Amino acid sequence: MKDSNFLKENNARHMFHPMAHPADSLANPPKIITGGNGVRIKDVDGRETIDAVGGLWNVNLGYSCQPVKEAIARQLDALPYYSTFRGTSNDAVISLSYELADFFAEDGLVRAFFTSGGSDSIETALRLARQYHKVRGEHGRTKFISLKKGYHGTHMGGASINGNANFRTAYEPLLPGCFHIPAPYTYRNPFDESDPARLAKLCAAALEDEIAFQGAGTIAAFIMEPVLGAGGVIPPHKSFMPMVRKICDKNGILLITDEVITAYGRTGAWSGSRLWGIKPDMMCTAKAITNGYFPFGAVMLSQGIADTFESDTTGSAAIGHGYTYSGHPVGAAAALACLAETKRLDVASNASARGAQLYKGVLKLMGKYELIGDVRGGHGLMTALELVSDRKSKAPVDKSIPIKLQDAVYENGTMVRVSGPNLILSPPLILSEDETDQILDALDAGFSSLQ
Ligand SMILES: Cc1ncc(COP(=O)(O)O)c(C=O)c1O
Repeated sequence: MKDSNFLKENNARHMFHPMAHPADSLANPPKIITGGNGVRIKDVDGRETIDAVGGLWNVNLGYSCQPVKEAIARQLDALPYYSTFRGTSNDAVISLSYELADFFAEDGLVRAFFTSGGSDSIETALRLARQYHKVRGEHGRTKFISLKKGYHGTHMGGASINGNANFRTAYEPLLPGCFHIPAPYTYRNPFDESDPARLAKLCAAALEDEIAFQGAGTIAAFIMEPVLGAGGVIPPHKSFMPMVRKICDKNGILLITDEVITAYGRTGAWSGSRLWGIKPDMMCTAKAITNGYFPFGAVMLSQGIADTFESDTTGSAAIGHGYTYSGHPVGAAAALACLAETKRLDVASNASARGAQLYKGVLKLMGKYELIGDVRGGHGLMTALELVSDRKSKAPVDKSIPIKLQDAVYENGTMVRVSGPNLILSPPLILSEDETDQILDALDAGFSSLQ
């Protein structure tokens, strides 16, 4: 490996970073991570920190999961690649599809369509939703409705249903036929409603209103994250998704859950859909399916979708969509090993216990630091702190503050993520009680250093 001076000098000279301004990447060199072990990462200067970001919400099992590494190595030896396009398959992906059907049986999901990551999974779900309606003869159902503040990756379809201008404006015009309703975000919403149950009703009413305005027969699907992640960890009231499910059913609209973050245990349940007690028509998964050890994803499909496609005799259900790496055998081997470890370690239960500890600890910090305007979480290891310059007016902080805070927390032994005014915590699900306290101590020290 090149030495640390070479790495620091050359970062951003020959690459653009995603989600960053190229000039900023040159002016403010990022932390260069060179090692990982358990829930900890090590940077090029040898500093070790707890990774309270969990990679990017994906390294649920931590950085040294030996069974996953071994499964990848074995698969590379046996068969590094073979396609699953019509006419061929591979043994690893068949085993994985069997295991996933079992894992998601409780969600009513029976088939998998494999992808290379989250954005691919979203694109796949949107396309299959339109095709599903066409196969059934409802050619006019092409539109999508989603939540403001939602994040669905950055492909053109995903960007079009995203609910944050940061991921849209520079890339417009986006896909026509995508519409948004307010998110059940109690801290800020157009209804000025802070009661979660009442807000859930208002948002559901906005969905019904939008459906009536567009015409139910023009809408293919409604898509949402069961707990909004990148938008700042926004858990809806428990009544929201069941109401959404009913509204979709009444109007013949498919319900797609974007579980790129929430599937495989992060919320304390095995899926976000299960957390809220609903069954989606499609579920987009990625991230923790392979824990970041290999780029991979899976869209899970309900029996109703499977029946529609599989019973078609006209040819209209032939799938004209897929990726070279759909069902990649190394990704499938990694996923099989991740799924086995995920279940063996019962990471959902740990996410629930450690998530409660983290949420409680951060609420305590809110009592201590005026800078924290809102704390959101309480459902597994997904927690956010929204920073404000004034609690009363909820005026946002200067952009430099969250970055300063992130650096101070890092100096105190914990990596956290900044997303706009939010500090986001999504550590690996194998986090211990002691490590949770260490994250809270680092946050406390970071806030205290800003005073
Ligand atoms: C809810 C959600 N959907 C989709 C995506 C996109 O996934 P990817 O970055 O793997 O393309 C993300 C990524 O963070 C996500 O959080």
